[in-house]
Amino acid sequence: MIDENVRPADMLRINTPELAEKFITEQIAKVRAQVGTGKVLLALSGGVDSSVVAALLVKAIGKQLVCVHVNHGLMRKGESEQVVEVFRNQLDANLIYVDATDRFLDKLAGVADPETKRKVIGGEFIRVFEEEARKLQEVDFLAQGTIYPDILESHGVKAHHNVGGLPEDLKFQLVEPLKLLFKDEVRVVGAALGLPNEMVNRQPFPGPGLGVRCTGAITRDRLNALRESDAILREEFAKAGLVGKVWQFFTVVPDYRSTGVRDAKRVFDWPVIIRAVNTVDAMSATVPELDWALLKKITDRILAEVPGVCRVLYDLSPKGPATIEWE
Ligand code: XMP
Repeated sequence: MIDENVRPADMLRINTPELAEKFITEQIAKVRAQVGTGKVLLALSGGVDSSVVAALLVKAIGKQLVCVHVNHGLMRKGESEQVVEVFRNQLDANLIYVDATDRFLDKLAGVADPETKRKVIGGEFIRVFEEEARKLQEVDFLAQGTIYPDILESHGVKAHHNVGGLPEDLKFQLVEPLKLLFKDEVRVVGAALGLPNEMVNRQPFPGPGLGVRCTGAITRDRLNALRESDAILREEFAKAGLVGKVWQFFTVVPDYRSTGVRDAKRVFDWPVIIRAVNTVDAMSATVPELDWALLKKITDRILAEVPGVCRVLYDLSPKGPATIEWE
């Protein structure tokens, strides 16, 4: 008997637009046969996997797909807006946008322990999604962006999803069209589906989002400094042609201050830490030798444009012993 969760030995690596088109055609037929006229629900984070599943299912079943995008307030600058723009405005998808920023930040207030923060974010996410699922009638299917490494490494559960799933009475049949694909193949399929390059080649972004980069107990002003400094870093890396060349890059704003001087007055402000790494599998990582002029430009912009920041540092630590994220 064929095990649906095992990639056949003779399955071709999807590395050309033609192979991607063939895969898309096959999956469209398969999804249509599976769901018939049923409704399919999908949590659309805007990450590569859920975005590609969404685009594929829009093509296969149109408005029978209901996407739910939960903005937990810990997204990078402009990301939720891009999800709405691409899926609602360009692809005409059925998209429910939930701005749950206040809810998440209220729950996280005063929570400093990194693992507790992850649990609060993951648990709250499930609850918001569950509430949206309960409002909808007659949904039988749940689409997921499971990919082959998820099956190989964590028994079909996306890595780091350590918060349990939906309650027993909300059990759906799963629709997982990407479950035999590797990440590079998912990107080729996404490109063939016409998704924007920045979405298809998005660098990894942790589920808890900016939450693990605003270390300790999250506050709105520090989160704002993080989001703005991260946006500057991304903009300057893009201008310098480093997107796709550096594997992951972001800023961190720790929960302590240092002294500075601004307008001849002593201030007590936050540092911003630049983190940039290269890696193959995220198990170990090296730090690229960034151009000094680029580092200086980013530093100058952050100091001039981001309120509450008086210092910028570049983290030179490889993994290990340092992890990629700061918590
Ligand atoms: P570390 O910090 O362990 O990160 O060196 C390795 C890779 O995993 C990502 N990461 C996460 N992804 N949920 C996620 O979905 C998480 O809680 C999480 N923590 C780390 C990290 O961004 C890096 O790519």
